[in-house]
Amino acid sequence: MRLTALTASNVRNLSRMLDHYSHFNPSPLSVKQFIDFGRSANEVRSFEFLRKEIPVRLANIMQEINLLPQNLLRMPSVHLVHNWYVKSFKEILEFEDIKSVDNRKLNEFCEALIKIRNRHADVVPTMAKGVIELRESHPVDQTIEHRIHYFLDRFYMSRIGIRMLINQHTLLFGGQMNNTRHIGCIDPNCDVQSVVRDAYENAKFLCDQYYLASPDLEVKEHNNLEPGIPIQIVYVPSHLYHTLFELFKNAMRAVVEHHGAAARDYPPVQVLVIRGKEDVTIKISDRGGGVTRSDMKNLFHYMYSTAPQPSLSDTDSAPLAGYGYGLPLSRLYARYLLGDLTLTSCEGYGTDAYVFLKAISEEANEMLPVFNHSSTRQYSSPLPTRDWVSFGGGSASSPARVRHLSTKVPGPFDSIN
Ligand SMILES: Nc1ncnc2c1ncn2[C@@H]1O[C@H](COP(=O)(O)OP(=O)(O)OP(=O)(O)O)[C@@H](O)[C@H]1O
Ligand SMILES: [Mg+2]
Repeated sequence: MRLTALTASNVRNLSRMLDHYSHFNPSPLSVKQFIDFGRSANEVRSFEFLRKEIPVRLANIMQEINLLPQNLLRMPSVHLVHNWYVKSFKEILEFEDIKSVDNRKLNEFCEALIKIRNRHADVVPTMAKGVIELRESHPVDQTIEHRIHYFLDRFYMSRIGIRMLINQHTLLFGGQMNNTRHIGCIDPNCDVQSVVRDAYENAKFLCDQYYLASPDLEVKEHNNLEPGIPIQIVYVPSHLYHTLFELFKNAMRAVVEHHGAAARDYPPVQVLVIRGKEDVTIKISDRGGGVTRSDMKNLFHYMYSTAPQPSLSDTDSAPLAGYGYGLPLSRLYARYLLGDLTLTSCEGYGTDAYVFLKAISEEANEMLPVFNHSSTRQYSSPLPTRDWVSFGGGSASSPARVRHLSTKVPGPFDSIN
């Protein structure tokens, strides 16, 4: 009896706190603010900000988890993820009322953040697994599909933002800084071309493993602001690396598949890095045969893949493709700091992927989901009805191939900082 009563009161208390914190909008920071704050490195100020901001960000997205279709919420993996969030929310609230902040408290806070980061390391594949569990056990119509996609974009984006805050604090104050040029996880002089080459080399390694062949790389730079000077940007190199790595894997696979694994020469993957007034643009062009216009709309759908399903038994080697998470997640990383990722394709020839990054650090603001009436409506309203009609144009998109995910297999879900 007593235990039940206590649990009920805990739940009431939790939903009260969730309600309270979700009434605040998350405070997006710009890269400039992250850098300025990191340079002044005031641990108490960071603590004061994060002990409010992290619960606000957690509560905003936890309220959306609660709006997911009941069938999905009941899936074991979704339940697991939800529990991680509840636990982390409670743990961070333990610092809510601390009045006198001494070194011991600051260390405890840092440790709590590290614990939360570790707990959430597998959130992306676990949530993906939850969606698969739903698909395998229940019919999923287009409306549910749309809501899940809407949620996953916001959920994964929220996670990127929360991890960014945690990483900045723990790197600056937890004694984990080993690169003196970096401020937390931001590189004030991130050399775009070296990240391009790094991502290419690692994708090439996978491609060689898989096909015993890979296309070469050609890189050109066009610095329109300071001609002849290597293009640098204030950015989070791990985010940029992730995006480029995924794009290179896709481009290489397309090129080798299109020309045949037995071909001797492949057309190179060409990269053009451009520094304009507002943006740094990275254009990756391949001659991998492109994508049909009817398939283009599927590219950014979670779990859409034309690759064979990665083997679950082979947990030692990373697959080149097959989860259908590469593009949607990469676009989130690009959009997180108000950049973007788009693809254009000429069927029968090749694909151009464009990564846009805000070149000015004051303008590179975090993009964060907000829980409000408008987002709430998305979980209850039907799909928008079509207001155009065309003969033969109403066909359903080709079904996304469902992938089974193992939390052990490295791939586009690997936790990055
Ligand atoms: N450059 C490209 N050329 C041709 N097709 C592409 C290209 N990039 C992506 N695609 C198509 O889009 C699909 C989705 O790409 P995405 O990167 O999201 O998933 P994936 O590569 O199949 O698996 P993974 O999640 O492991 O990356 C691919 O399976 C492929 O059919
Ligand atoms: Mg891919």
